[in-house]
Formats: sequence, C-alpha cells, structure tokens
Amino acid sequence: MTSVELGVFLPVGNGGWITSTTSPQLPATYEYNKAVTLLAEDMGFDFALSMAKWRGYGGPSQHWDVTLESLTAMSGLAEATSRIGVWGTVHTMIFHPAVVAKMVAVIDQISGGRFGLNLVAGSNPVDQGQMGLWRDLDHEGRYALAEEWITVAKRLWSEDRVDHDGRFFNLTDCMSNPKPKKAPPIICAGASDRGFRFTIQNCTGSFLLGSNRDDFVKTALRAKELSAEMGRDDFKTYGLFTIVPGETDRQAQERVDYFNSGVDVEALDNQTREYSSDPSLKQNTMANRFIAQGESRNSMSPAAIIGSPETIARKLADIVINGKLDGITVIVPDFIDDLKTIGIPVVEGLREFGVQTNAYQHQHGG
Ligand SMILES: Cc1cc2nc3c(=O)[nH]c(=O)nc-3n(C[C@H](O)[C@H](O)[C@H](O)COP(=O)(O)O)c2cc1C
Repeated sequence: MTSVELGVFLPVGNGGWITSTTSPQLPATYEYNKAVTLLAEDMGFDFALSMAKWRGYGGPSQHWDVTLESLTAMSGLAEATSRIGVWGTVHTMIFHPAVVAKMVAVIDQISGGRFGLNLVAGSNPVDQGQMGLWRDLDHEGRYALAEEWITVAKRLWSEDRVDHDGRFFNLTDCMSNPKPKKAPPIICAGASDRGFRFTIQNCTGSFLLGSNRDDFVKTALRAKELSAEMGRDDFKTYGLFTIVPGETDRQAQERVDYFNSGVDVEALDNQTREYSSDPSLKQNTMANRFIAQGESRNSMSPAAIIGSPETIARKLADIVINGKLDGITVIVPDFIDDLKTIGIPVVEGLREFGVQTNAYQHQHGG
C-alpha cells in the first residue's frame, strides 16, 4: 500500500482556479477559507496551502481581483485549527528573508510547529511589478536570489548572530529571535530544470503539475530521479490536481461543459499577457503552462480529473503509484461540497486502489 499526504490548495483568490462566470463564484474571504480549512482538518487532511498573489486578471468574472495575503491568512488559520498543517507562500523577490524568518518563527509558535513555507522564485512580472518589486533578473538570477534567500533564512533560524555579505542581501550582526523549534518544511513549485535543482538542494519537497496523465507521471519520476542523483532520498513530491467530481462521469463532464460555456476569455488573455511579458519566458516552464491553458480557451487546467468518485480515485491512484508521489494537493470547483467528495468517497476509493491516506485512518479510527 502506497501512503500519501493529502492537502487542499485554499481558494484565497475569488473564483478559485476556474476562470469562468458560470463556475462557483468563491468569495476569497478569510471566513470562507477558515470554513474550508476546518472542514479539511475535520476530514483528516494533512495540510492546507495558500498561494501568494497580488493582482487579479479582471474580465467579467473579475478573476482573482480579490486575494488574501498568504502568511497573515495562515497565521489566523493556525490559531483556528489544531492538527492540520498550515502552509503559506512567499515570493523571494519581494520579501526580505529576515522579515520572513521572524514571521515564520511567530507562526511556528501559533501553530505549534504546523507551518510550512512555499517559496516562489519568479512567476509573473506584472504581479510583483505593479508594486515596483519585480527585480530585473533573468531566470538563473531569480534562483540565485532564492538560494541566497533561503540560506540566510535558515541561518537566522539556527544561529545567534548572522553576518552575510551577498549579491542580494546584506546582514550585519543580525539577530532574529524567537527561533522556530525546528526549520519548517520548505516546498517550491519550480518546474524548470533550474527550479528542480534549487528545490532538491534547498527544500523538503516539490509541487508538481502535468498537462495530462503521462506528463504528470514523467515529471514526477524525473523529480525522483534527480533527487536520487543528488543524494536526497528523503525528498518529497506533491502533485497538484484540479478535480471536478460528479455523481457519475457524465454528470461531472456536464459540470465542466457548463463551466467552459462561461469561460472568461478576457481574464485568460490578461493572464497570458502578464506571463508573456517575462523576458526569460523560454525558461519559465510554469508560465508556459498558464499561457497554453489561456490559448486553448480552457476554463481550467487541461489535466483536470473529471468523473465520479470511483473514476477520480482510480485516476489519482494511477498517477500516485506510477509517479511515486508522496502527496496530493487538490483544487475543486466548490471547496465545501466538492471537498467533502474528495475527503470521504474519493479517500475510500483511493484505499481500494492501493493508496493510503491519513484522512482514511482519521475517519476509521486508525
Ligand atoms: C502548488 C503550486 C503552488 C504555486 N503557488 C504559487 C504562488 O503562490 N504564487 C505564484 O506566483 N506562483 C505560484 N505557483 C507557480 C510557480 O511557483 C511559479 O510560476 C514559479 O516561478 C515556477 O518556477 P519555474 O520558473 O522554475 O517554472 C505555484 C505552482 C504550484 C504548482
């Protein structure tokens, strides 16, 4: 039996991850995200992750025009929960590592060691550029910055005083207390080769995507292969899955067709334009995925898993087992009703297909 962690990608941006006027218009409020996180905790999920996003894509759906800041949201959710992991995101270009090192130490206390940090080294030049905080670095330079960033943060978590004279950061006799009890799990979704190398060298695990089943398995195995080559047998891989459940396969497909009937082309075009403005677009693997989705006029990821709970469990188990994944992170159209479908019947189905989750054990007294 393969074991995986199960997490939810919180809808801290309005509309969630479906760019459409006919999908559930999720509100991006703290209250909604708290209800989602408490539900996930109740069902035995392992973590709730929020993204960092500063600007929306507009259009008739006003996609992501409202977004919660990640670390403050997770800090509140740490207090509101008692068991689930609370993972937040920072862009390394726009936060100083000493500022985040201290924020993390505080959330470590609030959460009792349940905080995890998702690092984003680049992403979308307009998103961070609107505040004058995007740095004019090529793709390699962004990861060089991220490398220096995490080195400084880790030193501040473990050393009394830090002197650092680097290319991007200068610290003089820098004291940072309190310290977290131990360094948090650090995850990154860098999808380029450079991103993978950075992640394997500096982080606990990697978030992965695929444009279809085979691509997912290939990418996941590549991450495992690279991490083994680099001597990191403890390195974890977390797949990100967009899932649209229905009572039957047909009903699930009808939901997708309905969401696609309201696809917000204007918001998708804005997203494409923003990611395309990156002078290092060729190396920015993730940006190319978003652009491809926009160009295909798809309201959601082309790799979405659509179907009855049984179909979803079978398809997920296939990718988990063949891609040797350590974790599943889910996106659904509605984060209450659909999350219950993932958390209960899909979790049961996964077990029948050979994939064990803490959620299953939690619900069955294990
Ligand atoms: C699970 C997951 C979470 C992500 N979270 C964020 C985020 O919070 N903010 C963001 O700007 N990009 C986010 N991304 C996108 C990538 O982290 C980002 O595009 C990164 O720069 C890709 O690196 P690359 O250039 O090595 O492909 C996320 C991607 C995944 C799969």
